[in-house]
Amino acid sequence: MAEPLVVMDESGEPNPYLLGVYAPVKDETTTGDLRVIGEIPRDLNGVYLRNGPNARFPMKGRYHWFDGDGMVHAMHFENGTARYRNRYVRTRAFASESAERRSLWTGVMENPKGNPFGNTRGLNLKDSANTDLVFHRGRVLATWYLCGAPYSLDPLSLETIGVETFLDTLTGDFMAHPKADEHTGELFWFDYGPRRPYLRYGVVGAGGAVEHCVELDLPGARLPHDMGITENHAILMDLPLYQDMEAARQGRYKLTFNRDLPSRFGIMPRRGQAGEIRWFEAEPCYIYHVVNSWEEGEEIIMDVCRVSRPAPAGIGSPLSRMLSYLKLDARMYRYRFDLRTGRTSEEYVDEDHNTEFPSIDARRVGHRSRYAYNVSVKDADTNLFDGLVRYDNETGSKQTHHFGEYRYGSEAPFAPRDGATAEDDGYLVSFVTDEREGVSEVQIIDAARLTDGPVARVLLPQRVPLGFHATWVRSDQLR
Ligand SMILES: [Fe+2]
Repeated sequence: MAEPLVVMDESGEPNPYLLGVYAPVKDETTTGDLRVIGEIPRDLNGVYLRNGPNARFPMKGRYHWFDGDGMVHAMHFENGTARYRNRYVRTRAFASESAERRSLWTGVMENPKGNPFGNTRGLNLKDSANTDLVFHRGRVLATWYLCGAPYSLDPLSLETIGVETFLDTLTGDFMAHPKADEHTGELFWFDYGPRRPYLRYGVVGAGGAVEHCVELDLPGARLPHDMGITENHAILMDLPLYQDMEAARQGRYKLTFNRDLPSRFGIMPRRGQAGEIRWFEAEPCYIYHVVNSWEEGEEIIMDVCRVSRPAPAGIGSPLSRMLSYLKLDARMYRYRFDLRTGRTSEEYVDEDHNTEFPSIDARRVGHRSRYAYNVSVKDADTNLFDGLVRYDNETGSKQTHHFGEYRYGSEAPFAPRDGATAEDDGYLVSFVTDEREGVSEVQIIDAARLTDGPVARVLLPQRVPLGFHATWVRSDQLR
């Protein structure tokens, strides 16, 4: 078994996000020599890719789970075979730190003043490209939650091709969760920052260039994480959780949740001007992830994972505050925005179950989708995904798959079966790591029958640390 990479930070406290199932791995590996339990379906063809933090060097200052260097783990499935590969994203910061063989940046829990460089908005943190992966025009883009350069990767070799400039048309930064519309070939994105313009929204056209970009006026700096699209609209968010600017002036990173402000959802035509945005108000909240959004007559529906307590009690050491802020606690939730009246209605889809990291069939982004597949978040101090939950919009029913005791998974994107016609005719694929054994596997689950458990398990030569977002690239997209 490969040795873990032992990385500590300067706090002197054991940081759970550097240990156990989160501990970074040392090696970049490529292998097709894998033991399979069950049989890999021959109609599962494509690549499962997952991004996440993998700290390379002992951290300057305190480590936060979001600080680790972006590493992509991938499984390529082809005619019943599987091949595993993992690679760091070769960012500009990666190159700088490689040259000196040490950390040059402090993380989000420290004053970033002395750091070498940041994003184009002057946020002096390390753009690690560690957050999500989105497929567009033959490449996979590795993105960063605080807005950075999108790094273009080859989906099979995982080689970093370089910063994606969209034919030299991208100005500024790119957020973590752009939305790709496979029907039009467009890619929708925003970037945000602590100074005006607080939010910019743009569209990359099917030809690969930024064709539309507008500055949107917000009452102040915000921390939008995701967005929605429908056939005709884009949906942007102004939520009352934001960085305390007074603390920021003192070099501290502190979040404030203002319960007196509404949540606002800005709906505008996909290629609309700033003045065309219409703001819909709702109860104050925070949202990391949009499940999907679509149009129904004069209404726009948006399903999200809505955070239950945006501002946990800020007591204890910096480490315990970090742990409580990081802990995902969200519920499936639905908004309806009435374009005639300007009114919003909102309700729980599932008030009971803490689920996050939603995925749907990528071909339905912006169009009505019946099924969503979320991870189930364990009741624990750190983020552990102990199973998968499938939601059915039509029947309101749900199915669950539990990874097993001490076994934790990753975001599980939907992988359609070759020639599938039904929306749920395919598989869910997830890296699953065993906390006690320190080993990982890939589980392949029938998306229509989660309760049956995995149809196949592919055992991996090294542990896959728990991480962030994943995507599925179909074999027809690889051609
Ligand atoms: Fe995210």
